[in-house]
Amino acid sequence: MVILKKIDEVRAQVKEWKKQGLTVGLVPTMGYLHEGHQSLIKKSVEQNDRTVVSVFVNPIQFGPNEDLESYPRDLEADAKLCESTGADIIFNPEPEEMYADGFVSFINMTGLPNALCGLTRPIHFKGVCTVVGKLFNIVTPDRAYFGQKDAQQLAIIMRMVKDLNFDIEIVGCPIIREADGLAKSSRNIYLTPEERKAAVVLSKAVKLGQDMIADGERDAAKIVGEMKKLISAEPLATIDYVEMVNMDTMQSIEKAEGHVLCAMAVKFGKARLIDNFIAEL
Ligand code: PAF
Repeated sequence: MVILKKIDEVRAQVKEWKKQGLTVGLVPTMGYLHEGHQSLIKKSVEQNDRTVVSVFVNPIQFGPNEDLESYPRDLEADAKLCESTGADIIFNPEPEEMYADGFVSFINMTGLPNALCGLTRPIHFKGVCTVVGKLFNIVTPDRAYFGQKDAQQLAIIMRMVKDLNFDIEIVGCPIIREADGLAKSSRNIYLTPEERKAAVVLSKAVKLGQDMIADGERDAAKIVGEMKKLISAEPLATIDYVEMVNMDTMQSIEKAEGHVLCAMAVKFGKARLIDNFIAEL
């Protein structure tokens, strides 16, 4: 496995692979990799001849008061995980390599970003779409892998690929959880031991919502209301949102039917954590 920092180096290697008729998978990440990312890399290694993992903390997807500076970084550990999981390249560009002086071209989707996380993170998805579009053009993968934990991001990337005709299959992969249910996230590192214990309430809320649906409940407000009640009973938790939307449009729904996403963002001290479940009803 090699770590490449330049766009041209990645392009040259991928061209070589394509000449040999090899397929290429891309796993876009911001590094500080955990078992969630590893599951995406594993899937890519299974489904493609070669796998590229990008490790890039993308400055343009962070708002002015967000955690760009403090976002955890550990390239050495990331390289070990990628190598042992079978990746072939880590693409780890500097911000100037991705955003040269005078950069002014962005992918600015309407609709889907104006919901859930997009409401409190207004520039986030413009930054995500722009960097992912660039990575798609640089790596030209056959398939690209995204976690379902970032469900709104997954829906937005799927829509972008459709709208802009990227010839890439998007593979969504299930949420990977700690033994007690907390969804794996690079941001879990921000939690104090007390907050870490309290954060289990998120996966409990997910379970509660899933159980209510399994028992036949379809009233979105009722389901979300019970989930909020459970989370609010945890003194260290501050709810940003708990919502039920259509997974393809991100529009709020009153009845749980069709392709349903029930998503939440909750703050525990410095950490803003997300979790969700998807149901086909
Ligand atoms: O999910 C992430 O880690 C990031 O949003 C992504 C897709 C790598 C774009 O920077």
